[in-house]
Amino acid sequence: MALNENLRLLPQRTMRSLLISLSHRRSLARVAVRSPLTRPIVARFVAGETLQEALPAILALKRAGLHTTVDVLGESVGSRDQAAAAVDRYLATIAALSERDLDPNVSLKLTQMGLEIDRSCCLENVMRVVEAVRGVSGFVRFDMENHTMTDATLEVWRAAHEVYPGVGVVIQAALRRSSADVDSIIAAHGRVRLCKGAYDEPASVAYRTRSAVDANYARLMERLLVADVQPAIATHDPRLIAKAISIVEREGIGRDRFEFQMLYGVRRDLQRTLMDRGYQVRIYVPYGTEWYPYFMRRLAERPANVTIFGESAGSLDVHVPLASP
Ligand code: FDA
Repeated sequence: MALNENLRLLPQRTMRSLLISLSHRRSLARVAVRSPLTRPIVARFVAGETLQEALPAILALKRAGLHTTVDVLGESVGSRDQAAAAVDRYLATIAALSERDLDPNVSLKLTQMGLEIDRSCCLENVMRVVEAVRGVSGFVRFDMENHTMTDATLEVWRAAHEVYPGVGVVIQAALRRSSADVDSIIAAHGRVRLCKGAYDEPASVAYRTRSAVDANYARLMERLLVADVQPAIATHDPRLIAKAISIVEREGIGRDRFEFQMLYGVRRDLQRTLMDRGYQVRIYVPYGTEWYPYFMRRLAERPANVTIFGESAGSLDVHVPLASP
């Protein structure tokens, strides 16, 4: 039986856990990045391996009326030198965006800045990026990684946010703690990107069923929208997007008070539909050579994506229309 067919037979939850666990395998990453087979599929989710390759994609999104946040791919660096190199790549990216009159809005992972090596070294690195962003009146968002990083990420976010308000953070609806985290970030007038959560977390800390995660997402989204703290509603789920629209219409929340966010290459039809209806939509645009773990999480989110290795990458957009709330 072909590999694709074997994979299709796995329960979705098992498949998701398998793909997430494979995302940590450095030996597989080395094989994948060299393989010409993966390149066309990866290109669907990643705007290029270099800044020069990514810039035209960012410009094309801007011309189409979409906003962007740029992620210089990388996570869990193993040394201070690697963390410093990641900072340099961010500084070059921020300068290039600003010089070209593109949105100086970036997203980064704290383990890329050395969080697992040394907290104070990470904070120093992060502050170099924050200062660069502040210098061009831009914005930086700290992505959220697995639950063992949540406390440290929020702590670094608090320190950076006190220095410059244009620093946001991500909250994952999958985590049971997120309700309390949302309340404390709202109290600090912080800016939250709300997502479902891309990691395979244990039941002790996370909701494990889709319905429980979605219900928590809906609750947190309503709280953030009503609190008027410029939230980013990051999802491709048409039901949650329809729910967001019904909340903002009911509460009379202006379209400049929040934004939808989606990933590069995912549900491009929905990105445009929302933009055409007058909503602000920001696309998360990753680039860089360290694409393997990011790419594996994208496969895990929609295990059917694995089958695109044997098909056309065009099958990635499933045209589910916007549902009623
Ligand atoms: P859901 O998984 O239910 O998907 C809804 C529909 O969207 C699917 O039916 C499918 O049509 C489409 N879809 C979703 N993912 C797809 C994919 N990979 N390929 C093809 N179609 C897909 N997570 C995290 O833990 N920390 C973070 O910092 C971030 N940051 C972040 C930024 C932005 C802008 C977005 C949009 C998402 C994140 N995420 C994240 C990822 C997030 O947690 C989640 O894993 C994905 O967004 C998928 O969940 P949805 O909300 O789209 O719903």
